[in-house]
Amino acid sequence: MAKIHVTTTINGAPTEFLCDANQTLLEVLRDTLGLTGSKEGCGTGDCGACSVMADGRLVCSCLTLAAEAEGMKIETIEGMADGEKLHPLQKKFIELAALQCGICTPGFLIASKALLEKYPNPTEEEVRYWLAGNLCRCTGYDKIVSAVMDVAAEMREAAE
Ligand code: FES
Ligand code: FES
Repeated sequence: MAKIHVTTTINGAPTEFLCDANQTLLEVLRDTLGLTGSKEGCGTGDCGACSVMADGRLVCSCLTLAAEAEGMKIETIEGMADGEKLHPLQKKFIELAALQCGICTPGFLIASKALLEKYPNPTEEEVRYWLAGNLCRCTGYDKIVSAVMDVAAEMREAAE
């Protein structure tokens, strides 16, 4: 099968890769580009562990064809910290122990960041609703929700 040449931007860096027509973005991120932060929990769009941003939209990279990334701006968990400086959500997840095995964590962080960019003042119900597509087998969710609520409050304070 002829390979498809894709030109895209990943975490701000111009990136090119070759892929098969049926390869997912998640496969290419992990196996071709070595960006293994995005996880494969299910491969069927049910767990959110593979969440990335594509042109500002939260998507499951396991349900996105790699070829669809042509011309897009893709953001993955690898681009969330600013060099050595963790994003406030990353810091808060560590501080509140909002992770255990960590498989779900990149997806939760990407989804939470997308939430706070769109809705800086979410209610707890809105946070739970927004994150309903992200599954966690370990934490029981409460610490994750608390971390997101805390960071939302901190970011609002900092913006005042
Ligand atoms: Fe993509 Fe589960 S691996 S939603
Ligand atoms: Fe293990 Fe969420 S921390 S699945």
